[in-house]
Amino acid sequence: MSNNRFLIAYTLIVFTIAFIGCKQKAELEATNKYSNTSVKNIDERVDSVLKLMTLTEKVGQMNQYNGFWEITGPIPKEGNAKMKYEHLKMGLVGSVLNVQGSVNVRKLQEIVVKESRLGIPLIFGFDVIHGHKTLSPIPLAEAASWDLKAIEKSARVAAIEASAVGINWTFAPMVDISRDARWGRVMEGAGEDVYLGSKIGAARVKGFQGDDLAANNTIAACAKHFAGYAFAEGGRDYNTVDVGTSTLYNVIFPPFQATIDAGVRTFMNSFNVVNGIPATANKFLQRDILKDKWQFNGFVVSDWGSGGEMIDHGFAKDLKQVAELAANAGSDMDMESYAYVAHLQKLVEEGKVTMAVIDDAVKRILRVKFELGLFDDPYKYCSAEREKTLIYNAKHQAAVLDMAKKSIVLLKNNKSILPLSKTQKNIAVIGALANDKNSPLGSWRIGSDDSTAVSVIEGLKQYTTNFKYAKGANLITGKASFIEELKINETDKTGFAEAVELAKKSSVVVMVLGEHGFQSGEGRSRSKLDLPGVQQQLLEAVYKVNKNIVLVLMNGRPLAITWANEHIPAIVEAWQLGSQTGNAVAQVLFGDYNPSGKLPITFPRSVGQVPLYYSHYSTGRPGPKDLVFWSHYMDESYKPLYPFGYGLSYAKFAYSNLTVNDADKANIKVSVTITNTSKIAGEEVAQLYIHDKIASVVRPVKELKGFEKIMLKAGESRTITFTLTNKELGFYNNDGVFIVEPGEFEVMIGTSCNEGLSAIFKL
Ligand code: BGC
Repeated sequence: MSNNRFLIAYTLIVFTIAFIGCKQKAELEATNKYSNTSVKNIDERVDSVLKLMTLTEKVGQMNQYNGFWEITGPIPKEGNAKMKYEHLKMGLVGSVLNVQGSVNVRKLQEIVVKESRLGIPLIFGFDVIHGHKTLSPIPLAEAASWDLKAIEKSARVAAIEASAVGINWTFAPMVDISRDARWGRVMEGAGEDVYLGSKIGAARVKGFQGDDLAANNTIAACAKHFAGYAFAEGGRDYNTVDVGTSTLYNVIFPPFQATIDAGVRTFMNSFNVVNGIPATANKFLQRDILKDKWQFNGFVVSDWGSGGEMIDHGFAKDLKQVAELAANAGSDMDMESYAYVAHLQKLVEEGKVTMAVIDDAVKRILRVKFELGLFDDPYKYCSAEREKTLIYNAKHQAAVLDMAKKSIVLLKNNKSILPLSKTQKNIAVIGALANDKNSPLGSWRIGSDDSTAVSVIEGLKQYTTNFKYAKGANLITGKASFIEELKINETDKTGFAEAVELAKKSSVVVMVLGEHGFQSGEGRSRSKLDLPGVQQQLLEAVYKVNKNIVLVLMNGRPLAITWANEHIPAIVEAWQLGSQTGNAVAQVLFGDYNPSGKLPITFPRSVGQVPLYYSHYSTGRPGPKDLVFWSHYMDESYKPLYPFGYGLSYAKFAYSNLTVNDADKANIKVSVTITNTSKIAGEEVAQLYIHDKIASVVRPVKELKGFEKIMLKAGESRTITFTLTNKELGFYNNDGVFIVEPGEFEVMIGTSCNEGLSAIFKL
């Protein structure tokens, strides 16, 4: 919106507020300070504050601004920053985002608490996605660990660090089920699967929020993006989403429901339209489903400017209509659209938005602030001492290293080329990413410091000095940043000769190739899924002189590395593993950690196959068939390169004795024995899949419904048992009703979605 329009609204508001005395502030303080914060009390306390608020102040709570000036510097004298600063003092801001640091946060909080009429504290939001300062692997990588405890712990560490710099609300977890590798934000979620994604979403919420939201080291979580964002057409970020009822209820919704069950306190809506209606103004999603059906009592924040974007969508003519549509649809807080602060009051006066809608939104926001304990102590997250001792500390580094090791997936290991011997001579290390301390941090690390990762080279040095490094080629040209388009080196091969020469003289070549950290994330869709730039050519050039290659992949999405899979003997998926990347990779390469990760997302053979995911429906023409009339491609296999759930270990596992006991239909027991047939200990993720063979709404050919990660010593066997209840065996019909239908089910337990033992049972 233009500044002029905004300033008119703003001036009107200033005058309204100027007439209100400060008597009520004392009343507010008396009401809230030092009382206890049990839930019952919180509702009463919320009501007691609401009663004191003017409409203008209520609207203020529904307004969120981005951090906007050098907070410890001079007071802003002009423009947008001045306006925001004035709004803080007037109680026209309920939350800010992207401000961190105990000093900065305290300073802003003081303005509101001391200078606004009611002194209602701000809630400070930030994208704490996979760590704050000390970084864990990107969320997609963490999901590859299938280790819920470790993932919860990673979120806990993130919350401890974030809360130590004043933050009390993270915009995470992202629980969008993501099935299109072209979409850059696949890196931010738990991958393609509903069951795994739901469990991980819940674990992350528990990690962020802990057992006591009022503690000074826990922060409110935010399930995002509600809903359907990952189904952007063509994998192009922000693009149109058009999904059927079955997908909405059975694929998109369940992880969000799981976060509610885990106690998530906030939701974020999304940029996209869902079946023609922008999510931000989507009453069906936010009111009918989220607040009515699921009884969610936290609040919904819009995505950044998603309100204003409804004008571009062709859904609202101006910001006033945006405010009307979004507030009525249940979007409680406006992130950076400036729509609510400018227009909501007028809309209420005109009868277009009811006071009940406003009160409901404000109560939700106040409730979370009470739960965080902000009314009792608005500065509880502003301890310089905590900030000094908790950031980047050794305990956190150890925790993210543990998470990083667990996130690595061994994709191929022909002739057991891995692990490398610690006495191995003449190792070549090639690839710009091997020597990169920035890219492994991924793209969602705005709270952290650049170039703070342990590079692969640094990690390898812990084990051996018997290696030499040649870059081969730059991956990018120019600088890499969160907001700018990345430039990939598509031409410069001047370093090839040196790399090839080194490879010739070496016993084994470790090539670290893949995507730059800023090639995935928001606004970073790709139309190709191969190794970017000249890396494929570098790989082939080195392969010509030395076939003994260990390819370490770094990427934020599945890559179509079909050539590498056919030629390279060992492939290690190392994603973007965060602060401890190099140490984790080195431990796996030298066998100090036996890889245990499994892919949380399908790797296609070529980009033309996507979206490609294991839990698809059958077609009426499954194959393969002799004639052409079946569902396939003429020029590519219809199968993936690596399926969901796939991942190797240095150990070997065998599955036997699958038994099903379906005597009690409410608790069907499925058991299997797993044996470590190798000479070393290792971990296996046993995965249980079902197929409901005939249903009133067709069911996917396979659905994950249980998994267990177990450690087995060399030669050890263990029998594990899964229980299937209605929860696992039912589904949502096209009226959104959860039903369980009798009939025949196939159950499979195995090492990936494509390999295991199966049996039939009847319900
Ligand atoms: C993203 C959100 C994020 C928000 C605030 C948006 O661009 O879509 O996921 O939380 O910005 O930074």
